[in-house]
Amino acid sequence: MDQKILVLNWKSNKTPSAARNFLEEFPADFKSPHKIVLCPDYLSVSLSKDIIEKKKIGFSIGAQDLSRFGQGAYTGEVSGKSLSELVEFVLIGHAERRRLFHENKDILKEKMTQAKENNLKTVLCVEGESDLEGFDPDFVAYEPESSIGSGVVEDLSKIEEAFEKIKKMTNAPLLYGGSVNYNELEDLKKVNNLSGLLVGSASLEVESVLNIVSSL
Ligand code: PGA
Repeated sequence: MDQKILVLNWKSNKTPSAARNFLEEFPADFKSPHKIVLCPDYLSVSLSKDIIEKKKIGFSIGAQDLSRFGQGAYTGEVSGKSLSELVEFVLIGHAERRRLFHENKDILKEKMTQAKENNLKTVLCVEGESDLEGFDPDFVAYEPESSIGSGVVEDLSKIEEAFEKIKKMTNAPLLYGGSVNYNELEDLKKVNNLSGLLVGSASLEVESVLNIVSSL
């Protein structure tokens, strides 16, 4: 099986102690042929990194977002420079950021610039090919908003159709996200051009993550 990328997006679901419990429960010395990127909230990035290193868990760390600005007088923001000391990946333009925090293309382009300037690997989340115009991310996660958190994975034919359009605009590997769970994996794996998955709800329990990884 080719190496896939599995992005685990905890969103705002875990407090630092819950993040710690998850990683304490996770098997030590865990290795996978796939690239697994754990995205805790900002407050849990550092402790997650420490535990992963200490227990030799084969995860990389990603951030769920970053500031559109560099370092400076931007109260409440977390700069790409700060993140670059702790994480390898960053998500940009998740559907929840676009919808709830009104992140438009201009803002997302600034975030992309900050990520690149700080050598972070970028996962741009899109709902369709038009969200990709003007961007050159390292990975593209196609995430139809109607599937996120709904419990229903998008029809495989629709995912393939979207991938075809996206592929005309980028050579970046393509991920699918939206209610990915273990039970749907056998079908999802058949999707043409699928290089990985972005998992939200099903990333919150250790057993669910282990099941997904083992059948990727
Ligand atoms: P979900 O979330 O797996 O809970 O649908 C995916 C995402 O929003 O990244």
